[in-house]
Amino acid sequence: MKRDVKEILFSKEDIEQRIKIVGNQINIDYKGKFPLFVCILRGAFMFLADLSKEIKIDMSIHFMAISSYGGNTESTGQVKILKDLDTPINDRHVLIIEDIVDSGLTMDAVTRLLKTRNPKSIKICTLLDKEERRKIPIKVDYYGFKIPNKFVIGYGLDYKEKYRNLPFIGVLKEKIYN
Ligand code: IMP
Repeated sequence: MKRDVKEILFSKEDIEQRIKIVGNQINIDYKGKFPLFVCILRGAFMFLADLSKEIKIDMSIHFMAISSYGGNTESTGQVKILKDLDTPINDRHVLIIEDIVDSGLTMDAVTRLLKTRNPKSIKICTLLDKEERRKIPIKVDYYGFKIPNKFVIGYGLDYKEKYRNLPFIGVLKEKIYN
């Protein structure tokens, strides 16, 4: 598995350190607000697990599963809800936990859908932000790292369902998907 990695962008330790900082900020911003974290499956499962351990305030966790890639490295632009939330969010402060914002199409579709359910607020927390690839403007409220336009895997992120279990974030060798 590791031999398919061209370079390591962020080690396990880099990620741990950064998540502590993001978690602290969320603790401050959401104090007394009982936020509802919406984890976007499957890519954000590891980020959610580590981030939630840094959260010291009351919060709840729910899951949504989305597909937008269809097994390739380019977003299809068609966002499918594979599993919807199984709780109402009206009058809740929603914080979406995402692995990576790339074109922005997924977060645009998800936030538009969730806004129709009248949450008190809705914000986005993403581990990675590939800002230069945006096709649609998306306001990212919290991020772990901004990254260049490279296809990355590990720490929850996959290519064709592989590599999610790597503890670091790395760039996939082009020969794997070319
Ligand atoms: P967007 O809709 O183009 O912003 O894409 C968001 C989704 O595409 C993310 O939730 C990821 O699942 C996937 N994605 C985008 N870039 C990468 C990448 O570099 N590696 C792995 N998955 C990615």
